[in-house]
Amino acid sequence: MFALAPLALCLLAPLHAAALRMVTYNLRFDSMPDNITVQQSLAAVPDPLVQPAYLALTDEQPWSTRRLKVAEHLISEGIVLAGFQEALVRQVDDLAELLGDGWGWVGVGRDDGVAAGEFSPVFYKKSDILLISNDTFWTSNTPFEPSKFPGAGSFRICTVTHLQLKTGARTKFTYLNTHMDDQSDAQRQLAASLILSRARFEAVTTRAPVLVTGDFNSPPTGGGSGAYTIATGAEPSVPINATFAAKYAVPPNADPHFALVDLKGRAPRRAVRSTFATFTGFTDPSDTSDWQRIDFVFGGVIWGGETADAYKVESSRTDDGILASDHRPVFADVSL
Ligand SMILES: *[C@@H]1O[C@H](CO)[C@@H](O)[C@H](O)[C@H]1NC(C)=O
Ligand SMILES: *[C@@H]1O[C@H](CO)[C@@H](O)[C@H](O)[C@H]1NC(C)=O
Ligand SMILES: *[C@@H]1O[C@H](CO)[C@@H](O)[C@H](O)[C@H]1NC(C)=O
Repeated sequence: MFALAPLALCLLAPLHAAALRMVTYNLRFDSMPDNITVQQSLAAVPDPLVQPAYLALTDEQPWSTRRLKVAEHLISEGIVLAGFQEALVRQVDDLAELLGDGWGWVGVGRDDGVAAGEFSPVFYKKSDILLISNDTFWTSNTPFEPSKFPGAGSFRICTVTHLQLKTGARTKFTYLNTHMDDQSDAQRQLAASLILSRARFEAVTTRAPVLVTGDFNSPPTGGGSGAYTIATGAEPSVPINATFAAKYAVPPNADPHFALVDLKGRAPRRAVRSTFATFTGFTDPSDTSDWQRIDFVFGGVIWGGETADAYKVESSRTDDGILASDHRPVFADVSL
């Protein structure tokens, strides 16, 4: 379509309109390790021209089966940026292999800051995005060391990346990806407060877009919604570590109303898929008892362009009944 546009229109086209397709996807950790290599999995893929036994499977399948479903879905969507949750190091390695050399990634294992435990990695397509820097903080009372919030089920982290588009206006932006605790709303409230503080710092100091994704384990309303309501500014933050607060302080009045915006509510209605739940569990298709919307793509409001061209939650189930994960991938097209 672009090639057919009159030359004058091409020349007038705003340089800032580069769209970025991104995804946040909780992959479910590899709870059934079977030591099958990616190449062995690929060799065992059924002939795509042959009809599968429909919905033959319903329960959780090993990662060695699920990973191909994850990769084929992401590749078919044409994403250039991804934030995953629950990825053990072998899952990170598998995705790097399946997505191929055109992709880079950053992240650390949350249990030791190296490779132990689950990662919240950021993957980026090198043809479209330049990685400038990255770091990790723990969403605990001691954010600069591997640590667990009292009462939380697990160590929890946020991966921070400074990125730059290689197309359009070559916009620089900050992207944070996280996974909040499943057991402690107090941890989630602290995590949201730390992330909001860091996101505000990035927005104020870079005057550039900030994107935040993650499995918040916190629905927008009702019980356990503490993280969502703090992130979106509906409730005030809780007190955070003083060292962290000082490191990411902004001048008083720099942006007192900074908050994150749920981009699902900002995309044009016709471009928002009505699929709602992002967590389904590994259940029978008719069992919706655990379904929840807890995975999000947010934008920082200082940016002024905090909107999405499209937003969709897609099923992780294929016709054979295999669920690629107990969560669904959440896609957003963001103009930077
Ligand atoms: C996978 O490999 C690990 C380590 O070599 C081994 O302990 C485990 O039993 C293997 N699992 C299977 C299903 O073969
Ligand atoms: C990510 O940040 C760490 C810590 O600063 C650094 O050692 C690493 O090289 C960075 N990764 C990439 C791919 O730049
Ligand atoms: C704040 O975090 C730093 C670094 O993780 C830690 O050394 C310090 O003790 C923390 N402060 C408090 C009051 O816990």
